[in-house]
Amino acid sequence: MATTKQLLNARYGKDTGIGDDKEANEQVKALLARRSIRSFKDKNIPDALIEVLLACAQSAPTKSNLQQYSIVLVRDQNIRQKLAPWCPRTNNLEDKPLLIVFCADIRRNQRVGEFRKIQNVNNNLDTFLNATVDAALALGYFITAAEASGLGAAPLSSLRDNIHAVSTILGLPPGVFPVAGVMAGWPMNNGYINQRLPQSVVIHQNQYDDSNLEKEIKEYDQTRHAIFPIAEERQTRTDLWGIAEFYNWSEHISRQLGKPERPEFKAFLKSHGFDLG
Ligand SMILES: Cc1cc2nc3c(=O)[nH]c(=O)nc-3n(C[C@H](O)[C@H](O)[C@H](O)COP(=O)(O)O)c2cc1C
Repeated sequence: MATTKQLLNARYGKDTGIGDDKEANEQVKALLARRSIRSFKDKNIPDALIEVLLACAQSAPTKSNLQQYSIVLVRDQNIRQKLAPWCPRTNNLEDKPLLIVFCADIRRNQRVGEFRKIQNVNNNLDTFLNATVDAALALGYFITAAEASGLGAAPLSSLRDNIHAVSTILGLPPGVFPVAGVMAGWPMNNGYINQRLPQSVVIHQNQYDDSNLEKEIKEYDQTRHAIFPIAEERQTRTDLWGIAEFYNWSEHISRQLGKPERPEFKAFLKSHGFDLG
């Protein structure tokens, strides 16, 4: 038995005054208690299950039913071995029971236009965004379905760390790029619930208002710290910013975003069939 209040308290790391004492329905419970899983048992996932999960991914909403994404199942050990060195931040990529790449794909509808003899004139930033959102929603639905089936999963943007090499290895033609991968399998551990920002920070009533941001983020840092203090050796980019006395979420994400991430991405897209203007 898990009440909505219990689940919300776990999600936010404290009692935020929302939720009630009724038992949450199964689907809501699964969403509120979800967590990424990165270690898996060496146990097969039946093909029939994978097919159903992929159908769930395809059931996600998609802009105008344009379905501007493709999904690459990477099963061939040879291809996995080639990919792994290009994704060094993900340990043992080649051994994940399931490795799937969700791609934005504007190529398919360009080809459809060709045989319909109607030129597709929408290779632009809006289509790029729509295709990326389509791929991300499909990924989200896949993960939700996988978790509901007892699997554990985690998305992988590390596949974009060396996007040229990864796209070549996966044979992605112009107009198709990897948004993120998903690794999945039968979970080796229970993982943990990663506390989210309070609703007062993320949800705005009628108009955007972040006037209380600093205070609320500092409270969030404290809430997380009380549950998962970050050990000194896990502080990142100490070469640039030294050892922080109180290392917390806001410090961590600021350090991450304080260095350019994947600066070559735009040039890659431009050289790979995307006209971003
Ligand atoms: C687009 C995207 C890319 C991600 N890339 C990675 C990744 O490369 N490696 C990884 O371990 N986790 C990755 N994650 C998982 C996040 O780290 C994780 O969702 C976040 O820390 C919150 O934890 P939770 O999912 O357990 O709630 C990614 C998640 C998203 C949505």
